[in-house]
Order: sequence, then structure tokens, then C-alpha cells
Amino acid sequence: MHSASRNETPKSHQSDEAAALLRIEGLTKTYWQGASAVHALDGIDLSVSAASFVAIMGPSGSGKSTLLSMMGLLDLPDQGEVWLSGQAVSHLSDDRRTLLRRERIGFVFQNFELIPTLTAAENILLPAELTKQAGKARTRLEGLAGLLGLSGRLGARPHQLSGGQQQRVAIARALIMNPLLVLADEPTGNLDSKSGQAVLEILREGVDLQGWTVVMVTHDPAAALYADRVVFLRDGRVVGEGDPRHETGRRQIEAFSGTLPAGTR
Ligand SMILES: Nc1ncnc2c1ncn2[C@@H]1O[C@H](COP(=O)(O)OP(=O)(O)OP(=O)(O)O)[C@@H](O)[C@H]1O
Ligand SMILES: [Mg+2]
Repeated sequence: MHSASRNETPKSHQSDEAAALLRIEGLTKTYWQGASAVHALDGIDLSVSAASFVAIMGPSGSGKSTLLSMMGLLDLPDQGEVWLSGQAVSHLSDDRRTLLRRERIGFVFQNFELIPTLTAAENILLPAELTKQAGKARTRLEGLAGLLGLSGRLGARPHQLSGGQQQRVAIARALIMNPLLVLADEPTGNLDSKSGQAVLEILREGVDLQGWTVVMVTHDPAAALYADRVVFLRDGRVVGEGDPRHETGRRQIEAFSGTLPAGTR
């Protein structure tokens, strides 16, 4: 098969990739359990525009977290490629990938672990300390804490906080650097609906006012409505998408989430 080397990608193609802050093509990932294969990702193509908010929905085991770990440069696919700002990441050294991840990507994972010996404020500021931008981050801390309902709790250690508060500290930690790409795996899963809404509004506002690009996994159709676009995954494949800003898209989201097994909604 004739295929151009990636280094010879035409210029126009490169600028398309830059407009798409994140582009993934032909992504596959197979896990082996003894002799049996689990095709966690089975050929995913997806493009995410800069300053957009994309939600990913799908049944448990459909590959959502695996996909986020590829987008977040935490893991490499078996096949396919991830481009971040037009740069093919599998060609980068581990060190360069780590640096990109630290500087450009904020993670909000469902089971994000806080460091138990640090206060909430120290946990939130930790990524900034690693990049020596603590001063800038500190100026954002109060406002972010206020938005997330954490004011007055910043001196507490994780065990002194409710589950919901701990989750919000983890969210603040991911957002403190004002990252270019925010990857969130069920960010509102452990929050009451009011704090959940606050988080979604922060993400929405980050996209609209700060130009963040957010990819969020959610089982909750109400959370998906905050996105510009909802992508449906099943068995490691993209099986459709909907636009929550339009009635047709909202109906697709309701219909798709209605097919998810109980307990994942
Ligand atoms: N490290 C691993 N080793 C073996 N199998 C794995 C591993 N990680 C994921 N899998 C399998 O890959 C598939 C996709 O997993 P993934 O965690 O991406 O699903 P998910 O869509 O995030 O599900 P959930 O909604 O339950 O979080 C599942 O079948 C899972 O069991
Ligand atoms: Mg998952």
C-alpha cells in the first residue's frame, strides 16, 4: 500500500490538524487476558476542535477510559496515532510526552487520589509547584475554590473532607494550571447535583471564556447537555454522535443513554 511518511504530510493537512487541537486516527488497543483478547479500542477516529467541549458516552467497558488515557498521553495505542496541536505524539520520547502532559493537559479522573498528608490547597497547587508556576496558580486558587464550593476548606486534609469535596479538590488540581486540554472521566459522578452543575459550568465557562478544550466521559445525559458535541462509544468503536444544542441531538443523547445498562446512568 502506498502511504506517505508522516514527516511528509502536506502543509494544508498540518493546518487542519492544528485547528483540531486533538486528532486521533485508527486507534486500537487490545488487552490480553491469557489467550483471550479484549479489544478496548477497535479503530477510533475522532477530531476535537480547539475551544470545544466534547462529551463521550458509552456502556461500561466500551473503552472510554482507555480512550482518555490515549488522549492524555498516559498510554500509547497498539495502532493509530494521536495528534496534539498537530504533533504526532507516538513519535515523541517518553520525556517529551511527560512534559506535554504536565504542561498542557489537566486530568479529572473519577478515582483521582489526593495526597493524604497535604492540605486541599497544597494538593491543588501541587502540579503548579512541579512546573515552578506556583505564584500564578496561587492567584487563581481562591477564585477556583470559590467556584467549586471549597472556600474555607482549603486547610483541610483529604480525610477531613466529604467525598464530594475531595472530588472537587481533585478537579481544582486539574484546573489550576489553566490547561489547554482538560480530560475528565465522570467528573460529576460523585457530586450532588448542585456541585455537579457548578463543575459543569466551570468547564463550560473555561471553554467559552478561556478557550479550554474539554473532553468529558459521562453517563449522565444532563451533564452531556453542557457539551457542544456528544460522541457515542460501543465496543471500542464510535457508533454515532449528537449535538446537544439541537433538539435532534438531545433526543439522540436520551435514546443512547436509555440503551446503557442500569447502574451506568
Ligand atoms: N489494564 C487492563 N487490562 C486488561 N483489560 C483492560 C485493562 N484496562 C481496560 N481493560 C478492558 O478494556 C475494556 C475497556 O475498558 P475501559 O476502562 O476503557 O472502559 P470504560 O468505558 O471506561 O468503562 P467504565 O464505564 O466502567 O469506566 C474493558 O473490557 C476492560 O475490562
Ligand atoms: Mg471508565
